[in-house]
Amino acid sequence: MEIEFCGIKMKNPTVLASGILGVNAELLKRVAREGAGAVTMKSIGPKEKQGHSNPTVLEWEHGLINAVGLPSPGYKNMENEFKQLEDCESPVIVSIYGASIEEFEKVTEGIVGYEPSIIEINISCPNTKKEGQIFGCNAETAAEVVEAVNKIAGKIKVMPKLTPQANNIAEIARSCEKAGANAICAINTLGPGMLIDADARKPVLANKFGGVSGPAIKPIALRCVYQIYEAVSIPILGMGGITNGTDAIEMMMAGATAVGMGTATHYRGINAFKLVADEMQHWMKEHNVENIGELVGVVHD
Ligand code: DHB
Repeated sequence: MEIEFCGIKMKNPTVLASGILGVNAELLKRVAREGAGAVTMKSIGPKEKQGHSNPTVLEWEHGLINAVGLPSPGYKNMENEFKQLEDCESPVIVSIYGASIEEFEKVTEGIVGYEPSIIEINISCPNTKKEGQIFGCNAETAAEVVEAVNKIAGKIKVMPKLTPQANNIAEIARSCEKAGANAICAINTLGPGMLIDADARKPVLANKFGGVSGPAIKPIALRCVYQIYEAVSIPILGMGGITNGTDAIEMMMAGATAVGMGTATHYRGINAFKLVADEMQHWMKEHNVENIGELVGVVHD
């Protein structure tokens, strides 16, 4: 079920979403071996950063909620992981964050030499006051970041990751495309959300608020991807609540060329990618679909 996503060949359309398995090269390589068409690293920042205290990730009835706080070794301490990733059998997407255009530029300069297949620009983290969010909620600032990163990235593809909290996600996507984005990633976690422990009379996350993911956010992710597809002509990496093959097919029908999964690995394990790819293939056989590309955007009028 090979696909091409903004010029990058993938053995199937499934992609490990950023954050869920860290920056650990061995784990990422294992996910690739177990079937992911591409893998994304946890976002890398300008300097070493601790992140929030525990608990940072919790399961609830319809997904997960997390506030990890963008912990990062910082781009200067990544040489070893990048070296080990050289023989990763699937394309590697490197996610980056910064609190200013200058920080985004610094991180891009720091990682561009490792030649990732795609640079994911995280302008949509819901858990920090400064990093990310502010850029992703505004069409002009989103475009400024994309333009700045793109200048340094050279031939490496750049893909901003958008937030469902923006009230004009299609306009933001269009503005990013104009600024030179090669693809759009949508959506980041929804939020911030909150869980309360009634017995303890306290919020459950140490950070109180966190990003919501999993089956609960699938309808919002589908709507966002649908709207973005109508607004841009660059490919979309669609994610949010995809747990099985039918979810993935639906996301492609909304307009995604490739599909990301994060929370699904919590439910289905590290081989979620192979399972979902097999389920997609099964669906295609049953519905006489020969080429998965035929399904991209079919629900549009
Ligand atoms: C974190 C970052 C994100 O971009 C996100 O969607 C959720 C959590 C974090 O590190 O806290």
